[in-house]
Amino acid sequence: MEYTDEKYYGTYFMKLRRAQDQMLATIYQLLEEITKDAEHAPVEHIRSRIKSMDSTREKLSKLGYSQDVRSALIFLSDIVGVRIVTHFVGDVYSILDKLQKDSGWKIAIIKDYISNPKPNGYRSLHVILEIPFEDEEIPSIMTEIQLRTIAMDCWASLEHQMKYKKNISNEALIESELKRCADEIASTDLSMETIREMLLEQ
Ligand code: GTP
Ligand code: MG
Repeated sequence: MEYTDEKYYGTYFMKLRRAQDQMLATIYQLLEEITKDAEHAPVEHIRSRIKSMDSTREKLSKLGYSQDVRSALIFLSDIVGVRIVTHFVGDVYSILDKLQKDSGWKIAIIKDYISNPKPNGYRSLHVILEIPFEDEEIPSIMTEIQLRTIAMDCWASLEHQMKYKKNISNEALIESELKRCADEIASTDLSMETIREMLLEQ
């Protein structure tokens, strides 16, 4: 988080930080409860961030809104974002189940790009939720939790890095190769899950 980002969010910055901390605290508590009863720890790692000024403004302008902070807080759903990276695909759904039952959050949208991958091969489960915000005029904001396996995260990170390369000469080939990698990774994820189940039965 750079100084310019803090400056852009102004007095909202600390409020966003507190919203982020509260979200993380709830998530850690739910995960502790899951881990207590589970055979294995479901989570490999968790990351969270407040969206940078540059990408906030870029998204607002793409959506046709003015680029001020209030518009960002009202219209964007991922100024505060948390990514939970799990070991197995099944872990994604057990965490989703826990979020739906015990978080106390109002879940607005669930985008299941695991059951329905994006055409480029992207897989993840996105949960958009509404959480309280300490502001008289903006009492709540939308935030995003992304859930994915280590394997899906690996693909998404590499694809994200490469996406920014401009003027690709053989774009169609690169896209189909990336899609093939995503599908192979998904099939490996399923095999790993099957192996785990076989081991659990022993
Ligand atoms: P943006 O994609 O952020 O404009 O929002 P959206 O409303 O289209 O939501 P979507 O669910 O498509 O994506 C939200 C977030 O998921 C993005 O900001 C990325 O973090 C991630 N994401 C979505 N699609 C892709 C993708 O194809 N590749 C990678 N690496 N990440 C993606
Ligand atoms: Mg998108």
